[in-house]
Amino acid sequence: MRILILGSKGMLAQDLKLVFREENLTLWDKEGLDITNKEMVKRKLKKLKPEIILNTSAYTDVDGAEKKKELAFKINGEAVGYLTEISKIIGAIFTHFSTDYVFGQNKKEGYKEDDKPLNPLNVYGASKLEGERKILKEKGLKYYLIRISWLFGPSRRKKRKYKNFVETILKISEEKKEIKVVNDQFGKPTYTLDVAKAVKNLIENKKPYGIYHLPNESWTNWYNFAKKIVEIAGRKTKILPCKTEDFPRPAKRPKYSILINTKIPKLRNWQEALKDFLEKYHLYIIKELW
Ligand SMILES: NC(=O)c1ccc[n+]([C@@H]2O[C@H](COP(=O)([O-])OP(=O)(O)OC[C@H]3O[C@@H](n4cnc5c(N)ncnc54)[C@H](OP(=O)(O)O)[C@@H]3O)[C@@H](O)[C@H]2O)c1
Repeated sequence: MRILILGSKGMLAQDLKLVFREENLTLWDKEGLDITNKEMVKRKLKKLKPEIILNTSAYTDVDGAEKKKELAFKINGEAVGYLTEISKIIGAIFTHFSTDYVFGQNKKEGYKEDDKPLNPLNVYGASKLEGERKILKEKGLKYYLIRISWLFGPSRRKKRKYKNFVETILKISEEKKEIKVVNDQFGKPTYTLDVAKAVKNLIENKKPYGIYHLPNESWTNWYNFAKKIVEIAGRKTKILPCKTEDFPRPAKRPKYSILINTKIPKLRNWQEALKDFLEKYHLYIIKELW
């Protein structure tokens, strides 16, 4: 298969590269293709003619988006429209990643694939919802719209930024004896490798096009998630519970943000996935698994 991965230096892209390594892969990040450049998107995609596009490129700084609204909407919203337009013309399967933050309803029991996202609580969520709308309005487009949440996985190879919660907790626990973590926000931590494998299954098994929720299973809160990270990593750091209002952030987060997967076999529990990730962690970092 001729597959194009967009946002190829990002976190999820590392495991997509790993899982699809046997395929004919093209890897583009911003330098390869800035998705906000409509003319370039048209020209390069028409030339490459990929059969499958895995679009992980996005503006993902949730707090930063509150100040950079225009940029977030340009990348997460408008540019998705450029990609869907061309994907339809060249007949590519457009695989796109979205977020639990498109839902602003604070529904305690969670959200199924056909629940309608309403009133996202922050700019990032609103911009990602705009991207979803671009996909759904492109009639005849072959697409997988995949919602994921609380993502953890390998950080980028060169410019290592501590971008995900697991790495942040690991880093802080090297320096601090105690860490306060909020216990009143609920969601499903999700491992990039499990998402990548599930995406491969969707494509290989020619599952019907549409919306899929691919979280790891069982919901938790950030406090219990952090406790599990230090426990598995064998750190002595104490995790203490606190409330959202103790940690004011620029972007509002939903209290309940639980994705329900009703369409395909459920992914494994997040605890098992986390253990697997932490066992592989040194491989990602040292041996550059990707
Ligand atoms: N991380 C999470 O917790 C989470 C949760 C739910 C859903 N998602 C979604 O899952 C997908 C992958 O997330 P991730 O955490 O792997 O993202 P990530 O690590 O931030 O990677 C995104 C990549 O896209 C690149 N990019 C930004 N603007 C671009 C542009 N104009 N043209 C081309 N590339 C551009 C980024 O480059 P720079 O870094 O240089 O800007 C980065 O390499 C995203 O769609 C995200 O919204 C993520």
